[in-house]
Amino acid sequence: MREEETACLIEIIERSSSSSVDNLVDLTEILFMYVNGIACRATIGRKFSDKRELKRLRKMLDDMSHLSTMFDVGNWIPWLSWVNYFNGVNAMVEKKYEEGKEFLESIVEEHMEKKKKKKKKYDGETNGDEAENFVDVLLGVDHNDKHHIQLGRDHIKALILDMFAGGTEITHTVLTWAMAELIRHPNIMNRAQEEVRAISKGKQIVTEDDTEKMTYLHAVIKETLRLRPSGPLMVPHESTEHVKIHGYDIPAKTTVIVNMWAICRDPIAWVEPEKFDPDRFMDSKVDFKGQDFEYIPFGAGRRGCPGVAFAIASLELGLANLLNRFDWAMPFGMDPGELDMGETSGLTVHKKENLVLAAVPRQFDN
Ligand code: HEM
Repeated sequence: MREEETACLIEIIERSSSSSVDNLVDLTEILFMYVNGIACRATIGRKFSDKRELKRLRKMLDDMSHLSTMFDVGNWIPWLSWVNYFNGVNAMVEKKYEEGKEFLESIVEEHMEKKKKKKKKYDGETNGDEAENFVDVLLGVDHNDKHHIQLGRDHIKALILDMFAGGTEITHTVLTWAMAELIRHPNIMNRAQEEVRAISKGKQIVTEDDTEKMTYLHAVIKETLRLRPSGPLMVPHESTEHVKIHGYDIPAKTTVIVNMWAICRDPIAWVEPEKFDPDRFMDSKVDFKGQDFEYIPFGAGRRGCPGVAFAIASLELGLANLLNRFDWAMPFGMDPGELDMGETSGLTVHKKENLVLAAVPRQFDN
């Protein structure tokens, strides 16, 4: 499925590039479609081909990111929480919540209908012609099993939202940052391209078997995750019990915000932390699995990201194919140093301006 979506990605870039005099392509938009295609097929078994549906999804994700940055006075000064009734914050949260809920509800409903039509008893197996997707599996959870899993409709909707947020929003942002850093660092781009092309040996589409061997590509992705963490403050946590850390008392139920951005740029842990330098990960044992606390782009511990393998596979395959199939340049011969690296604010930090680059298709012998 990932490889099919990669083939789609290549086709769209080829088409956009050939229809523009200067071979320009809007990578931000195209990469969103790529990762969204993968996430949607895995989650709900289909892509959002209807433009209105896709617009609703993007709006829901944007709203969520926007709301997360709004100052909620009641959260910090509880006796002032009434202020949110007057300044419009509560009304807005309520409105966005209802909109998102309705959208997610329609997805669950669609699956329930499909399930009814098939009159199939879900038992965790695929039904032959069509692979089960994430929502099918959730709807098929046996509430009477020995693990006592209680999944209500609201849990399922929240899990679908998590999949969209992680699978689409964060992953496409990382891929866009990776390409932005590569275009700003032509030597690194060349080295990554040489590795990809040497290992894929003239193939038009790089496969997952190939990407496994691309150590420099892995280092480029790791360095992007370090320097450009898409969720710099992760998601807020809450302490479950009272603890004492370095002499400070942290009461139970305290909101804990982890500044991953600062950790990943800590000069004590990193040499020249502001520099984009994938070499720091070559021959290094530091990994994102949550064991090396100076590098936690996916978090750590029980609330760490469960989508690491899913994300890394999409990132590696997407990036390898972009580098294999095209030569990349700044638009209109601009200097790479002129690329605007401004960021948005929000739960997920995007590149402020869409990444528009010139993509020149590579000539293959066969
Ligand atoms: C490059 C892409 C991704 C990055 C950098 C990333 C990063 C993160 C981070 C930092 C957290 C919070 C961890 C914590 O607070 O300790 C998180 C949580 C989460 N991620 Fe990801 N993620 C990515 C992709 C994905 C994908 C593809 C999925 C799903 C397929 C996913 C699903 C989730 C879920 C469900 C949570 C919440 C876990 C919980 O609250 O217990 N993520 N992710």
